[in-house]
Amino acid sequence: MQTSLHNKTILITGATAGIGLATAHALLQQGAKLIITGRDQSRLYHAVKQLDGNVIPVLCDSANIAQIQQMAAQLARDKITLDGLILNAGVFYPAPFEQMSADNFHSTMAINFTGPVFTLQALLPCLNNPSSVVFISSVAVQKAFSEAGVYSASKAAFEGFARVLNLELAARGIRINSVRPGVTATEIQAKAGMDDATINGFFESLNTTPVGRVLTPADIIPAINYLISDASIGLRNAYIDIDGGFGL
Ligand SMILES: NC(=O)c1ccc[n+]([C@@H]2O[C@H](COP(=O)([O-])OP(=O)(O)OC[C@H]3O[C@@H](n4cnc5c(N)ncnc54)[C@H](OP(=O)(O)O)[C@@H]3O)[C@@H](O)[C@H]2O)c1
Repeated sequence: MQTSLHNKTILITGATAGIGLATAHALLQQGAKLIITGRDQSRLYHAVKQLDGNVIPVLCDSANIAQIQQMAAQLARDKITLDGLILNAGVFYPAPFEQMSADNFHSTMAINFTGPVFTLQALLPCLNNPSSVVFISSVAVQKAFSEAGVYSASKAAFEGFARVLNLELAARGIRINSVRPGVTATEIQAKAGMDDATINGFFESLNTTPVGRVLTPADIIPAINYLISDASIGLRNAYIDIDGGFGL
């Protein structure tokens, strides 16, 4: 069966783990052609080995604007055009406000905000008319989590930028919408510095939410799938909250 993503070319940033990698699996199963990025060559290689389908890996650190421009130049050189762009690469480096370092602030903003902005800008010449951009935001935009100030601000900053871009880029057929996951079991918690016991306790605390459990990438994929496909052509600047009711 041919799906609406059959033969669509989609670029996913940060697809070496978690939601990005799971989305890559799902889109390939529907016949999409993918370009995936990662900041680490060996993890990128490992991701491509796991994926079954038409995948081009590109080493590109979301915090490095020169690398972003090189990636866009490579795509243009190879005459690759995109029907979709999933701005997924992101980090969560929690820090109590009083102790938050300038390095923590700037690295979070560079990866979660500046990176997506300049990735989209650099890839404008590659984006088809029409094309869909999906930003992986966070429930943290609207629900306060202690120690997540800069994380929340980085996601809200891109959402604010996207509102303007939905006007500026409309004539090029580009639309931008966001998915806001709630707490989802991925590597992000360990990368945030939590040990296994803390992660398990955190996940168990979610048993009291309406959905009754921590979310998994499989819970997030259908919304990404919808927003990246032509089925959502009428949406501009929409936010799909997938938090299992945590924010109620
Ligand atoms: N999990 C959650 O609870 C949750 C909730 C709300 C929103 N989100 C958002 O969902 C997105 C995916 O997160 P996840 O939970 O799937 O985390 P993950 O498992 O850690 O995956 C994040 C991906 O982004 C990549 N990445 C990180 N920094 C990068 C950089 N500078 N350049 C390029 N790639 C980079 C990672 O690469 P490496 O493999 O090299 O680390 C990895 O492929 C993020 O934007 C995150 O903020 C997650």
